[in-house]
Amino acid sequence: MPAGVTTQVSDTREADKAPVSPLHVAIIMDGNGRWAKARGQMRTLGHKAGVNALQRTIRAAGDLGITHMTVFAFSTENWRRPAAEVSDLMGLLRTFIESDLGKLAKEGVCVRIIGQQDGLPKDIVECVRKAHDDTRHNSRFFLQVALNYGAQADVVEAAKRFAAKVKSGEAEVNDLTPETFGGLLSTHDLPPLDLMIRTSGEHRLSNFLLWEAAYAEFVFQDVLWPDYDRVHLEEALRIFKERDRRFGAVEAGHVSA
Ligand code: IPE
Ligand code: IPE
Ligand code: MG
Repeated sequence: MPAGVTTQVSDTREADKAPVSPLHVAIIMDGNGRWAKARGQMRTLGHKAGVNALQRTIRAAGDLGITHMTVFAFSTENWRRPAAEVSDLMGLLRTFIESDLGKLAKEGVCVRIIGQQDGLPKDIVECVRKAHDDTRHNSRFFLQVALNYGAQADVVEAAKRFAAKVKSGEAEVNDLTPETFGGLLSTHDLPPLDLMIRTSGEHRLSNFLLWEAAYAEFVFQDVLWPDYDRVHLEEALRIFKERDRRFGAVEAGHVSA
């Protein structure tokens, strides 16, 4: 294989090689607006409470043996919201990085922000850079924050990167495999996704980790994100452990006649 084509461990695991506890968990943190509405408050207050829930969940995840977490903070479609709400969300991210990054860095957390930087305010791009620089040597826990992220756009970017390699002679068309393609996605250095959680009772992916979720288990919880706590994460892990992950094979011990 020519130089410049990297590979990702794609989800071609067999059931007996999959972890009993999820290593990589993704969360679609949904329901901030409804949480605020139920209290007669502005949506911004819901988002603020959502940041507290994220802080609690990061702590709980580390305690519960999760090593990689990808959270959906802002989608490419969230620009459709009123400008004031978008600006509040960016402000909260800025505050989160300013107030929590030092603590996370000390606790051995590696923070990465994925998503398109084009279109983000300059100071947020600076926050993204700072988060990477200040925590890149950490390896106790990996926190990936998807900001201005859309899975379709991520796949398109990966396809463009591969096409450019072919054009420059760095790669050949036949070098493209699920593994090499996965290596071009923004999530390329994380292990396969084990568990996808969505809160607030919605049952959709909303353009999150479409490729990575190929063999993830899905757990939908009715709790609104600002109320999310350790007990909810424990419940999701309990449900995960009860699942029979077959990866296309037959149930262990069930041999056909
Ligand atoms: C999730 O909560 C946060 C973001 C999408 C940024 P929502 O703001 O979507 O809350 P609901 O779905 O309106 O309740
Ligand atoms: C998905 O939630 C995006 C984030 C949680 C950041 P949305 O609330 O934007 O999704 P839809 O619009 O209900 O699909
Ligand atoms: Mg929502």
